[in-house]
Amino acid sequence: MAASIPSLSLPITTRRLHIRDYVVGDAPTVFGYVNDAAYWQFQRAEPPTAQQIDALIKWVVNEQNTAPRLAYFLAVTRKDTGEIVGEAVLKILNAAERQGELGFGVAPRFWKQGYGTEATAAIIEAAFSQLKLHRLSGQCSAENKGSMRIMQKVGMAREGLLRDVHFARGKWWSTVIYGVLEHEYAKIKSALKA
Ligand SMILES: CC(C)(COP(=O)(O)OP(=O)(O)OC[C@H]1O[C@@H](n2cnc3c(N)ncnc32)[C@H](O)[C@@H]1OP(=O)(O)O)[C@@H](O)C(=O)NCCC(=O)NCCS
Repeated sequence: MAASIPSLSLPITTRRLHIRDYVVGDAPTVFGYVNDAAYWQFQRAEPPTAQQIDALIKWVVNEQNTAPRLAYFLAVTRKDTGEIVGEAVLKILNAAERQGELGFGVAPRFWKQGYGTEATAAIIEAAFSQLKLHRLSGQCSAENKGSMRIMQKVGMAREGLLRDVHFARGKWWSTVIYGVLEHEYAKIKSALKA
């Protein structure tokens, strides 16, 4: 099995979105929305500081030049206004076995407008059609109804629940794991078009 993975062709364009690489100048916009407690309600990570987001975006921009590229931290932007509505993440966990993981987040002022679903569906499409992955997984806190619903809507199967697997921010967190396999993808694709 080939261990090399091609690079994603960016930007990824959907009906309303351009999903593109970050530039260093995006950091203040990203901090603008992750600096909202609501964003972290169902995530165990501590909310980041502006300095941490600056450093993260610089690291992400630097990673864009890695070859082979195994991590995509992408800005999800509106096609019409160019505003950043959130982020999409695709990581190649194991190139030889074509295993990948996705992640996503949407700025609170854009919640419940379908952007999370639209971006995640586009990342799945790219992961299977461009990168020829065999399996894509995603995980979230068992309390994160929006995140679970997105993964369900794009056709991922709920594969398991890790109970009280982390202790953070003063409480136990359970994690739900979702996954989708390449042979399931054609079915998902036609369902999304319906
Ligand atoms: C989870 C998150 C990505 C959802 O993004 P979004 O753009 O609002 O999602 P969508 O508009 O595509 O909605 C998808 C579905 O989830 C539902 N949903 C969204 N937020 C929800 C919530 N807080 N509670 C229950 N359902 C929710 C929507 O109603 C929709 O379901 P429907 O089509 O059956 O009505 C967003 O709330 C977010 O970024 N949260 C903070 C970061 C985060 O938790 N990221 C995921 C980490 S794993």
